[in-house]
Amino acid sequence: MKFFIDTANVNEIKEANALGIICGVTTNPSLIAKEGRDFVEVVKEITTIVDGPISAEVISEDSQGMINEARNLSKIHKNIVIKIPMTAEGLKAVKCLSKEGINTNVTLIFSATQALLAARAGASYVSPFVGRLDDISTDGIKLVEDIVKIYKNYNIRTEVIVASIRHPMHVLEAAKAGADIATVPYKVIMQMIKHPLTDIGIERFLKDWESVQNK
Ligand code: E4P
Repeated sequence: MKFFIDTANVNEIKEANALGIICGVTTNPSLIAKEGRDFVEVVKEITTIVDGPISAEVISEDSQGMINEARNLSKIHKNIVIKIPMTAEGLKAVKCLSKEGINTNVTLIFSATQALLAARAGASYVSPFVGRLDDISTDGIKLVEDIVKIYKNYNIRTEVIVASIRHPMHVLEAAKAGADIATVPYKVIMQMIKHPLTDIGIERFLKDWESVQNK
């Protein structure tokens, strides 16, 4: 499973990129709004940091509006992936954009049948939101398992990006389910690095080392 970072904060992206673990970035209108910066400016800056797929989301609700936004956004950089919401209008836009060779990430996926439709429309990626399903007492990871299985059944090449990740257990379960990618918030990446036994181990090694040096 590959890792993307789920943020529009360039400092977080730089930090995660320096760790050598991420190969893409996902943003959404809420994440961009949090930064209080111009959308295009932020996306452009991200393309200078990470050399991999960078999802930028459209805000139009009609297919023609989505297509127009997508064409403009895709001019920013070859790595831009257009994030399109899972609606009937979104599917029409995906169909048109995939014919034009523009990569799409169909977002706000909450059922396996939505994921199957998105793939058939020509989506490059789908983003099932596990955390938001868990929030309403529905098993988010079960959705990922179902999508992975269905895509395998029909040799579908659309990649599954597990999104709305809240904690390291979501990452573990996404990997066990066979997801292609997990898009992980910076905070969760940091939680994944840490283990109390690692810290205790380092402390003990250093103590033992120093005790010999002082003799
Ligand atoms: C995915 O691409 C979305 O940006 C994101 O994972 C949504 O997560 P949230 O449910 O924490 O807002």
